[in-house]
Amino acid sequence: MKTLRTSLLLAAMLGLVTAGASAGDGKGTYDKACAVCHAAGVANAPKLGDQAAWKDRIAKGKETLYTSALKGLNAMPPKGGNMSLSDADVEAAVDYIVSKSQ
Ligand code: HEC
Repeated sequence: MKTLRTSLLLAAMLGLVTAGASAGDGKGTYDKACAVCHAAGVANAPKLGDQAAWKDRIAKGKETLYTSALKGLNAMPPKGGNMSLSDADVEAAVDYIVSKSQ
């Protein structure tokens, strides 16, 4: 009985850890909300991994990129059009894109 209770407690703790990891999961958010444009370059979106396309944007600084992603920029909709995303999710997705594109 004690073992069962311990494993239930462990399972609950693991559940918490997993839930915590989903906030700010840059790749997950990118795949869900950003890849639709940034994978293929829809509407001239700078493509993930295209260093030439990202160089000048990265040079503007992370804060500027966060603001563009959160508030939108021309054909780029605020939060990629997914307003249910938290600011932290969007910023993590920017970090993910930048890490793959420089
Ligand atoms: C509907 C298509 C679309 C979606 C979805 C989209 N983007 Fe974009 N994104 C664009 C386009 C187009 C640009 C280029 C805007 C420009 O420079 O005129 C852009 C530019 C950017 C830039 C560069 C901004 C700058 O200041 O140079 C960042 C960062 C960015 N997107 C992040 C994201 C993130 C993060 C997501 C997902 C949460 C996302 N985008 C989803 C179309 C999209």
